[in-house]
Amino acid sequence: MKFTQSAVLAFAATAVAAPSSTTREKPRAAAAACSSAVSLDASTNIWKKYTLHANNFYKAEIEEAVKTMDADLAAQAAKVANVGSFLWIDTIDNIAKVEPAIADVPCNDILGLVIYDLPGRDCAAKASNGELKVGEVSKYKSQYIDPIVKILKAHPNTAFALIIEPDSLPNLVTNSDLQTCKDSAAGYRDGVAYALKNLNLPNVIMYIDAGHGGWLGWDANLKPGAQELAKAYTAAGKPKQVRGIATNVAGWNSWDQSPGEFSKASDAKYNKCQNEKIYVTEFGAALKTAGMPNHAIVDTGRNGVTGLREEWGNWCNVKGAGFGVRPTSTTGTELADAFVWVKPGGESDGTSDSSATRYDSFCGKSDAYQPSPEAGTWNQAYFEDLLRNAKPQF
Ligand code: BGC
Repeated sequence: MKFTQSAVLAFAATAVAAPSSTTREKPRAAAAACSSAVSLDASTNIWKKYTLHANNFYKAEIEEAVKTMDADLAAQAAKVANVGSFLWIDTIDNIAKVEPAIADVPCNDILGLVIYDLPGRDCAAKASNGELKVGEVSKYKSQYIDPIVKILKAHPNTAFALIIEPDSLPNLVTNSDLQTCKDSAAGYRDGVAYALKNLNLPNVIMYIDAGHGGWLGWDANLKPGAQELAKAYTAAGKPKQVRGIATNVAGWNSWDQSPGEFSKASDAKYNKCQNEKIYVTEFGAALKTAGMPNHAIVDTGRNGVTGLREEWGNWCNVKGAGFGVRPTSTTGTELADAFVWVKPGGESDGTSDSSATRYDSFCGKSDAYQPSPEAGTWNQAYFEDLLRNAKPQF
């Protein structure tokens, strides 16, 4: 049965349900608390005070998705629309999403944004190559970062959590043998430092992307990885609002499965970080030594099911994946501030069309869902699978 009245009503009822008075305040237009400037103390876990906002862009994607679902699944999907998640600002044009996303943020919510438009983006893969070319770092600064800074400054009463440039610095640590990453390196370092320095506003908390345990968690990568991030932080003038790192962004690793998913692999002895909990602890220690704040937020958006990847490094639209633990500041680990949803579940990691310019062979692997559309675009079938496989279920 497709598109039933009840499914739509179920969606509407959940989507507009009044927030519980204990955890959320009234919409900002009506709330007195929003009349004062936000000041986020980056020496504390701000997620104890703020809830990751369920942004209206992901909500709208789900509202569309619900239309073709049967009633049972639609009712579950409607609940996903109320889960907080990050909004990706992946092009200069998409900066236009920020103001509308601010409009419905309650006073106790924090709007999550992913800063993602470096020149020569995604240097070790093709699926997410961006609009800016190597060498266009001044355009990145003036047409991408500066306008975002302006918007965040114009909304001092709204709290923002930023994830800075997924995959960029980790790629410089482990893929520096690739010509594309060599070419991108200077722009990444300059661009990330500029972003950190200029987005350092009182209403903003920042986390620099640190890959995941299967990436910088290898014994040989922990120290260089921490040093690479610390270098960017130092180059930016050690901005006060940097709290630490984001891990597992758009990733698939379990938080605490033990023994870890890949612990039987022949090379497992070279990586202590067999789950994200260990990674946060080990990389956190390396960051401390390197002189950088070391608290973490961890993407649990799509890590509900494990045992799906043929190899740890497989990253594209993993088949059989399920939504994971909902955003929460209860992580059980002091260094882990919160579990958050970063990759909007249902948006593709990359196209499986081998004739496309951004086709990456990882998206054609046998453990990658096919067919899949271009990175960032909606894959209805994949979304429905995430929902069916969600753990905990909706
Ligand atoms: C894509 C972006 C998209 C993001 C979130 C990335 O892989 O390259 O365009 O915004 O995923 O779906």
